Amino acid sequence: MQASSLAIPVLLFSIIVLICTELAQPPQNLKPKVFVIGFSKTGTTSFGDALAQIGYKRLGWKDIRSRHMVHSYVNGEYEPLIEQTRFYDAFEDLPWPHLYREMAELYPDSKFILSLRKDDATWLKSMRRHVGRGEWIGYSHFYGAVTFDGNEETIRQSYTNHTARVREFFAGQPERYLELTVDDGDANWPLLCDFVGCPDGKVPSTPFPRSNTAASWRDGKIDVIGWLHWLWGWTITRLEELTSYWYYEKKQPSVRALLSFIWRTVDTVEQACSEMYYKYATEHAPSMLLT
Ligand SMILES: *[C@@H]1O[C@H](CO)[C@@H](O)[C@H](O)[C@H]1NC(C)=O
Repeated sequence: MQASSLAIPVLLFSIIVLICTELAQPPQNLKPKVFVIGFSKTGTTSFGDALAQIGYKRLGWKDIRSRHMVHSYVNGEYEPLIEQTRFYDAFEDLPWPHLYREMAELYPDSKFILSLRKDDATWLKSMRRHVGRGEWIGYSHFYGAVTFDGNEETIRQSYTNHTARVREFFAGQPERYLELTVDDGDANWPLLCDFVGCPDGKVPSTPFPRSNTAASWRDGKIDVIGWLHWLWGWTITRLEELTSYWYYEKKQPSVRALLSFIWRTVDTVEQACSEMYYKYATEHAPSMLLT
């Protein structure tokens, strides 16, 4: 292929990235940030849903950029993570559980919620299904293993060790630290409202969110946007699984540079889409923010 025939795609590509960067400006009205720093399968999505319900703008695992942020974190690149924190005021699931020290320092008015299960056996049972789905390299950095069978004890320790370290770090800072157990359901509302404040000082009368993995079905109707989003997330996740071998194991500089570039681009486009979605929903259909 001649260099000149690449010029047009590169130009088009750059224009798209420029437009998206322009479209994606952080909102002005963000609150002091809340980080949910429990591991996966501790109800992080449910706590994120609860925070969204009481007016927070949340970045969570459902957002495909969370995968890229895990890659950045694992590679010691914190800048893309910090960039993301400008756009949101609530954060949940990976990579945030490992970033509480940095975030506590960067945002002195931020608060932290350690989400837990009622005991480690319950958590481990959920993790069996979760980690059992695929050998994603990101798991090893948080849970000490990429596969479940044979590594139960290591994975269990990653949870108990995390809990102990977080407690030690926030000891003596009760105003910015709270532990919640997703198994406690509705009992979490008053604790959460007491900690971060709920609209009009009222505890919501709706049941405490319980994240539903079959989220593409709502009210018996197919939710097209939700379904497309799921498909997009699924595709990107599979691509990441395929490419992460070259990224992490082979450590080839050219592959790393190319993948980083692609991830950044996907992130920029996703950022623009989600900012537009957020602005539209805030003005026209707030219920769209609660899914
Ligand atoms: C948990 O902490 C103990 C004690 O510091 C350590 O020996 C063990 O390797 C840790 N386990 C994991 C999975 O990090």
